[in-house]
Amino acid sequence: MADIKTDALYKSVRTTYGQKRAKANGYRAQFFFRLEQRTVLEHLHKNQAPIVDIACGSGLMLEPLMAHGKGAINIYGLDYNNDACIAAQSNQLTTIRGDAFKLPFPADTIGQFVNCQFLNQQTPENARLFVGQLAKALQPGGRAIILWRHGNSLLHRVAHSIFLLLDRLKKAPKFPQYIHSMEQVKLYAQEAGLGVLKESITLPVSYPRSVPSRHWFGDVLGASFMLVLSKPVDNSS
Ligand SMILES: C[S@@+](CC[C@H](N)C(=O)[O-])C[C@H]1O[C@@H](n2cnc3c(N)ncnc32)[C@H](O)[C@@H]1O
Repeated sequence: MADIKTDALYKSVRTTYGQKRAKANGYRAQFFFRLEQRTVLEHLHKNQAPIVDIACGSGLMLEPLMAHGKGAINIYGLDYNNDACIAAQSNQLTTIRGDAFKLPFPADTIGQFVNCQFLNQQTPENARLFVGQLAKALQPGGRAIILWRHGNSLLHRVAHSIFLLLDRLKKAPKFPQYIHSMEQVKLYAQEAGLGVLKESITLPVSYPRSVPSRHWFGDVLGASFMLVLSKPVDNSS
């Protein structure tokens, strides 16, 4: 079930930053959002539809795909927050207001899921439930790209302490924060029957934009974990 208290906080953030800025979706800097966006888009198959961005916020992550002719492929966003849905609609994304923990899609129907910067606000139990929901709704052969903050990297810990202090001074809303390791989320995926196509750590620099998930560099400069999961095709019949 969506967290109603946190949902109210999103309204205030969207009112402050509007529909076009990644800050409304929790990113501290626009350039950093663009780097992560390029990484996500690189791993999407342009012809495996429909694509649904779960917890899409103002719908900015898949915006470049919309510019290439939305009619060519079905792209949707789902978010629980009403203001997020309104913002995403005005950014040309068709949105569904819904709960990530109770996805409104029949089994085996979605070509690809994208989910960015959502897991860190979820408890381990909810993160596991969510991955199970993705697995159920994916078509066999479909994929899910999940991106979440690398809460244990040195960079993240330093930046987080600084931002926490600044936010406290500014009396900015405080969102829940949970740390999920790559191994933990992979375990949820495995339990749900999904395979791992790729696992990496994104960096806040343009080259290299990411490193393999066990690279020491990721422990120092890591920004987010990225997992590309796939639902196996059942060849038994
Ligand atoms: C940090 S923002 C990330 C937005 C977007 N994915 C991005 O990366 O730009 C998290 C989003 O998750 C949404 N959210 C939180 N709980 C949800 C739930 N149970 N179901 C659907 N969306 C939810 C919030 O409304 C918010 O828009």
